[in-house]
Amino acid sequence: MTNLPLFENETGTRRNEPLGPGATLLHGFALADETALLDAIKAIADDAPLRNMVTPGGFVMSVAMTNCGTLGWTSDRRGYRYTEIDPITERPWPSMPACFTALATGAAATAGFESFIPDACLINRYAPGTRLTLHQDKNEQDFSQPIVSVSLGVPAIFLFGGLKRSDKTRRVPLVHGDVVVWGGPDRLRYHGVLTLKENHHPGLENYRINLTFRKAG
Ligand code: SIN
Ligand code: FE2
Repeated sequence: MTNLPLFENETGTRRNEPLGPGATLLHGFALADETALLDAIKAIADDAPLRNMVTPGGFVMSVAMTNCGTLGWTSDRRGYRYTEIDPITERPWPSMPACFTALATGAAATAGFESFIPDACLINRYAPGTRLTLHQDKNEQDFSQPIVSVSLGVPAIFLFGGLKRSDKTRRVPLVHGDVVVWGGPDRLRYHGVLTLKENHHPGLENYRINLTFRKAG
């Protein structure tokens, strides 16, 4: 028996952990880019502010969101959709920084999805006490393209379910720098995030930021 943490292999290097036939957790994949990512997130949020969107059912989402890229995911009483214009600033969403695209394309390729070029990046900011309920990502045109999901800041528990809402969910702990990629047969799996616990990260105070990259259009 080894007492190494689960995310290390025999040689002590980070490994890629399968979560399904088309789903992989890339431990620490985004760590090398953390400074560039955090700087870019600040610049994006200065331009297109983080906001709490309203669901079609009239609930205010606890997670604050913004976007960059050609298309941005939005929600209001009329439904969920992608728009080219930020409804708050009435300008196009900030463009996708090169370090974002490179990270998403690299993570997708590492997980077996070649030539993934995202046109949308949803930025989710979780404060302590906020959560994201189980859902499928299904507002995109082309389900052959994967989802690339980057975790930054304080740790969280990602819930990874099945293709039906009632399917059993797996609790996947995610820490700063982890990237989860799901596509192919796993593309429409239900997922969510458990209520964030109070914690501290040197670069992000008590927040968790998630970047969700998609080919939406
Ligand atoms: C999402 O499903 O949009 C975000 C998932 C996460 O925050 O890890
Ligand atoms: Fe999602």
